[in-house]
Amino acid sequence: MPLPVPVPPEGVDPAWLPDEAFRPIGTRRTLVRGSGPLVDTVHGEVARACERFGGRVERDAAPGPFDLVLELTGPQELGDEGFTCRREDGRTTVGAYGGAGLLYGLLHVVRLGEAAFHGERQREYHEPALALRMLDHWDNVAVHPVMGQVERGYAGGSLFWADGRARGELERVRAYGRLLAACGINAVAVNNVNVHETEAHLLTDRIGEVAAIAGALRPYGVRTHLSVTFAAPVVLGGLERADPLDAGVREWWAETTARVYEAVPDFGGYVVKADSEGQPGPFAYGRSHADGANMLAAALDPHGGTVHWRAFVYNHHQDWRDRTTDRARAAYDHFVPLDGEFAPNAVLQVKHGPMDFQVREPVSPLIGAMPDTRLAVELQATQEYTGQQRHVCWLGPMWSEVLRFRLEEGACAGELARGGLVAVSNVGDDPFWTGHPLAQANLYTFGRLAWQPDADPHELLDEWLGLTFAPVPEGLCDLLSGSWRTYEKYTAPLGVGFMVQPGHHYGPSVDGYEYSPWGTYHFADRDGIGVDRSVAGGTGYAGQYAKPWAEMYESPQTCPDELLLFFHHVPYGHVLKSGKTVIQHIYDTHFEGVAEVEEAVETWASLAGQVEPGRHARVAERYAEQLRSAREWRDQINSYFFRKSGVPDESGRTIF
Ligand code: GCU
Repeated sequence: MPLPVPVPPEGVDPAWLPDEAFRPIGTRRTLVRGSGPLVDTVHGEVARACERFGGRVERDAAPGPFDLVLELTGPQELGDEGFTCRREDGRTTVGAYGGAGLLYGLLHVVRLGEAAFHGERQREYHEPALALRMLDHWDNVAVHPVMGQVERGYAGGSLFWADGRARGELERVRAYGRLLAACGINAVAVNNVNVHETEAHLLTDRIGEVAAIAGALRPYGVRTHLSVTFAAPVVLGGLERADPLDAGVREWWAETTARVYEAVPDFGGYVVKADSEGQPGPFAYGRSHADGANMLAAALDPHGGTVHWRAFVYNHHQDWRDRTTDRARAAYDHFVPLDGEFAPNAVLQVKHGPMDFQVREPVSPLIGAMPDTRLAVELQATQEYTGQQRHVCWLGPMWSEVLRFRLEEGACAGELARGGLVAVSNVGDDPFWTGHPLAQANLYTFGRLAWQPDADPHELLDEWLGLTFAPVPEGLCDLLSGSWRTYEKYTAPLGVGFMVQPGHHYGPSVDGYEYSPWGTYHFADRDGIGVDRSVAGGTGYAGQYAKPWAEMYESPQTCPDELLLFFHHVPYGHVLKSGKTVIQHIYDTHFEGVAEVEEAVETWASLAGQVEPGRHARVAERYAEQLRSAREWRDQINSYFFRKSGVPDESGRTIF
């Protein structure tokens, strides 16, 4: 039986799956062959397209004059999610071994559009490079007094929860699963990594609410995961301790996990933030993080689940006077000694940079330093430090640089992420899903990069544009393609980071974190700026890299310009590889960045009439705020460094 396609509520943006994208399929004759729930999804998709556009679909009929055949036959080596695609004798054929593969094959044909039905096509093999392609929702069930419904969320409320309860809008959740499948995402964690009191109960007495979400996502091949608190045996089970080596604690987790699987048979597993920013963890019992993770891995193992254990462990009560402690070192220092100790179904989830999702950071050296541990790399789609979905900041090029970065001889981050690629979700209940309509490009690009980490992000951007805007207005691609660099220009310079307003992290505050306990300093004084992380005279962080990076980062002469202040404290007159001094670079990039936003605002205005009016208005409103904010950044940063250094701008522009 075909499964009906979800219909999101009136007014919700179709994003990269507008009906039009199905026209090439919907006008033709399709045969769907095979059985299983995901094949029913495929059948439903084609049936709905045919209803709309006049084509015809049959299930398991004898071969006849079909234009498209979607069949469950393909080679077993392709795994559940791979597929083949070929075209010969006027017929396009997609073959897959598993239902998920067939669904991805159908969506591949959607992306190809008319081109799927012309000429000949040799058999192509497609399969995801990474088995786990996951979004972590930092959604709270109960509205948190400081963080709200969605921690670091900039797209309205949660799709799953409102005011302490499950929203129950499962049709929208189904539509969400459909969008995720169409960019290759196959896993979702439905609650915040900071697990507060209400949310802790999702694991036990409220697992039914999780099961309902899982049921809505399942037809699109998306498995559900849950963030849990390490203290669950105490806060939920009434035990006195949560010691991972205590037999009673282990038994509690085993029984609790078995009940989770009764409710959600294909449950993906747990996400855990332990001993991090105040969350409980194994340190309280003198145990290691491997002990903690392995206890949960043991509970999940009989059911085929995985624990995602986050490596975001650092001292957030640092004394700013102490220049020897370096937050950038923390994840490596904590976890490298544990390499080889984690269970096979324990995945260590590592943020892509050593700090916290800044606009520019080096790639975390931890990713290359744990050959005997399954690692997942965590990215942040929600734009906490990159404009909070009020600024256009397409992160594709940044993520691609991370994934292609060769940490070890021969292996890049995208290959070392054997435990998967994860992003913190940027989605909420906003009609455009992501608040800023153009921020959808981040979600789409993330999913596609998780499928193929060495893909050219600009090709993925073209794909997103082609699906979302047909036809793609002239100039739109340029607005997005350089937007990350533009954002970097008018915000914190040369890898320095964290010059943001404390707490909400939006807008400039050069000294906002300078005397705070968070370990995020820039050390600007009248002579210079930056953090000395060299081995020779600094915190030694540069030495956490393998060759050639350790040597390259060690010296200001060889360190790449864009990371100079991350690794070195240099005088304002230090000459960059670009030939400019650091101070002149700061002035120039800040003026340039704002000029680029001004130009983008004009380009967007000129597209009125070519873009759906609601979408155009929303983006125009966001651009007005981006421009205001970019000017604020420029003027505060330039004024601050002019006042500190006393060095005038060579071009004599206005600095306050
Ligand atoms: C950042 C973010 C927090 C989040 C944390 C994490 O510090 O500001 O809101 O909880 O990352 O990744 O756990």
